[in-house]
Amino acid sequence: MKSHVVVTLPLPSAVLDRLNRSFDIRLWSESEPIPEATLRAWVTGADAILCSLGTPVTAGVIASSAQLQTISSISVGVDHIDLAAATASGLPVGHTPDVLVDSTADMALALMLAVMRRIVEADQFVRRGEWGSGWSTDFFLGTDLSRATVGIVGLGPIGRAVASRVQSFGAEVIGWNRTTRQVAGVRNVALDDLFEAADVVSLHTAATAETHQLVSADRIGRMKPGAVLINTARGAIIDEPAMVRALQAGKIRAGLDVYDSEPLSPNSPLLGLDNVVLVPHLGSATRATRAAMIERALDNLASGLRGELLPWCANPDVYAKG
Ligand code: GLV
Repeated sequence: MKSHVVVTLPLPSAVLDRLNRSFDIRLWSESEPIPEATLRAWVTGADAILCSLGTPVTAGVIASSAQLQTISSISVGVDHIDLAAATASGLPVGHTPDVLVDSTADMALALMLAVMRRIVEADQFVRRGEWGSGWSTDFFLGTDLSRATVGIVGLGPIGRAVASRVQSFGAEVIGWNRTTRQVAGVRNVALDDLFEAADVVSLHTAATAETHQLVSADRIGRMKPGAVLINTARGAIIDEPAMVRALQAGKIRAGLDVYDSEPLSPNSPLLGLDNVVLVPHLGSATRATRAAMIERALDNLASGLRGELLPWCANPDVYAKG
């Protein structure tokens, strides 16, 4: 008998064909996230969940099926899954590290350059037909990455990939990691000092209870006038109202891929600000990277259903429990 897999998001038809060949799948194909009550009902009696960001897999969902064997997420971050509840239930959780490092680092660079050189603002200016007076010495001036000190918060694979990219632009790099990590060309500093010294702060930590609002009002207040805050990690790492106040006061600039609440509300005060560039959680959004993430998620799913170790497990301590 085929294993029963709940799939919580639309997927390319070739991927669904593969899933259908091996498993009995129940697919949520709407663009809105599956409501929790529906997910609980669907998961009752299921063997596995294939999910991604936007679908909270709560302790209640996990408790809905006694026969659940694994949860596989098409994402590197697993803050949408109650990892403690999964581990307590002996459920390995799969995720998709490594394959999205370069795409996400590229997005951080794209945001830095867009903010520092005012690309979006200038694009809108041209499209509005306001480019009337040619070239002048003080027209749309920005700041240089080559002259900047870039502070990397979190020196894991993505943080290190951003460090090497900005080094190649000529920037000086300082860094902070929860457990000190030596990275070539990166000077380790205390977190408060990083916020005080950096012209650009780029965030690359996971969202956990420890990193919740790590970028506090106090740390935002320490940033240099005009400094740039880049977030391609998770919205919960920043005290978003405090960041909005600093942006509204023109004290800092920002490039954001992620938000406290996603999708961003049409009433968000961020939407009216010129000194912030906003993209809708696109860090890993290239064809090749998304295909690689799906492959990893399918490998995790199949391994979990065979009772084998997941190749990319987000809660390896689940195996220590025997
Ligand atoms: C994207 O944010 C991911 O966690 O994969």
